[in-house]
Amino acid sequence: MPLTLADCMHLDAHDPSHIRLAQVGDRFDPGTPGTLYFDANSIGPMPRMAPLKMQTVLQDGWAKARRRSWNELDWLEQPRTLGASMAHLIGAGSNDVRVTDTTSINQYKLLRYALSVAAPRRVIVLERHVFPSNRYVAEAIAREHLAELRFIDDASDLRAALAPQDVAVVALSHVDYRSSTRLDMAALNRCIREAGAMSLWDLSHSAGAVAIALVQSEADLAVGCGYKYLCGGPGAPAFLYIHPRWADAAWPAISGWMGHADTFAFEPNYRPGAGADRFLVGTPAVLANAAFSAAAELWREVDPLALDQRHRSLTDTLIQLFDEQCAAWPLHLSSPRSHAQRGGHVALQFDGAAALAQALVEQGVIVSSRKPDALRWGVHPLTTNHQQLWSAVQVLRQLLISGSWQDTRFERPMV
Ligand SMILES: Cc1ncc(COP(=O)(O)O)c(C=O)c1O
Repeated sequence: MPLTLADCMHLDAHDPSHIRLAQVGDRFDPGTPGTLYFDANSIGPMPRMAPLKMQTVLQDGWAKARRRSWNELDWLEQPRTLGASMAHLIGAGSNDVRVTDTTSINQYKLLRYALSVAAPRRVIVLERHVFPSNRYVAEAIAREHLAELRFIDDASDLRAALAPQDVAVVALSHVDYRSSTRLDMAALNRCIREAGAMSLWDLSHSAGAVAIALVQSEADLAVGCGYKYLCGGPGAPAFLYIHPRWADAAWPAISGWMGHADTFAFEPNYRPGAGADRFLVGTPAVLANAAFSAAAELWREVDPLALDQRHRSLTDTLIQLFDEQCAAWPLHLSSPRSHAQRGGHVALQFDGAAALAQALVEQGVIVSSRKPDALRWGVHPLTTNHQQLWSAVQVLRQLLISGSWQDTRFERPMV
C-alpha cells in the first residue's frame, strides 16, 4: 500500500525518536510560514536563541564590557567549549574537537600535520571527485613540493593506492556532497591503518545528521562544516578533530599565538599547545561563535542514536514517497537505499535538476542542485517531520505534471 498523508502524520505522532527530539526541534525558528526547508546540507535551521546570543555579545560584550569580555564572557574558551558541545555527535572525546576557522583551512592544517607525523612518507591519497576545495588545498600543498597526490575514483581503489606503502594520509569524504553516498569509516580506517597511513575524514555532510563513531572506528583526523546540519549559522566556523594518540606528535603548519602553549606569556619562540589546541591560530571569531553557541546549547541535549533513528525514518520515508509519487518521471535516486550507506541528504538524478530546483524554491520548497544533474534534499532530523515530506513531494509532483519547471525563467543559475 502506498504511503498516505495519514501515515506520515501517524509517524510524526508515534515515532519514538521523534517524540524524544521534538522538544529540541521546537527550539528552532520555523522559518518563513508556508516554506519547507531541505537545505540543511547548505545551511541548517536557526536556533531561536541565536539572535539573543548575538545581541548579548554586541551589547554586554562589545558595547559595555569591551576588553573585560575576554575573561568575563570566556571568549577565548569558545573553540574548546563549542567543540566539546558537539563532540558526542561525531563519537569523539570532548577534549579532542575544536571549533575554528573554515573546513578548507582545517583540511590544510590537518593534511600538513599528517605529512609531518608520517614523514618520510609524502603521498596524499584523495578522491578525484571530492568536494573541490579539498582537492584545491591538496594541490597547493603538492605545488610547494611538500607532498605527491594520488587520486582514487572511489573507495574500492583504496587498497591498490596504499600498496606501495608510501602513503602518509588518505583524505576521504564521509559522505559525497552530490550523491550522499556514505563510506564505511571503520572498514576503510582498518585498511588505511594496516598500510601504515593516517585517515582524514571530511564530515561536512554527516555531522549533525547521522551518528558518527570517530573513536570507535579509529579515525585519525577529521574536519567538517559548522553551518550545515550543525546549525552554527551563515559562515559559521568549522570543526576539527584529532585522535589523542597523534595529539602531540608534531608542530602545526600554521603556528599562531592562540595555538601557543602559553599565549599570554608572549614568548619569543613558538611552543605548540597541548593536543588539539595547537590547531588554533588567531583570535576566535567571537560573533560567529555567539551564533554557534545557540546550537551548541541544543546539541548538548541530543542523543546521537535518537538523531540517527529519526534521520533514518525521515529519509526512508522521503525515498518511499519519491518512488510512489514520482515513478512516472525520469527522476532516479542517486543516493544508496540503505540508510547506513547514506548521509544527510537524499539526492535525485534528473536531467534538468537546476531548473527543477529553482521551480521548487519558487513554490516554497527549498532544495539545492549540483552540477551536472543532482537534486539534493537535505533533511534535518531536528526540524523536519514526515508530514512536511508528504507536502514537499506533492509540490514536486505538481511541477512534474504541469511541466512548469521548464519555463525559461528557471534557466538562470542559482547558488
Ligand atoms: C564536503 C565539503 N567540504 C568542504 C566544504 C568547504 O567548507 P568551507 O567553506 O568551510 O571551507 C564544503 C562546503 O560546502 C563541503 O560540502
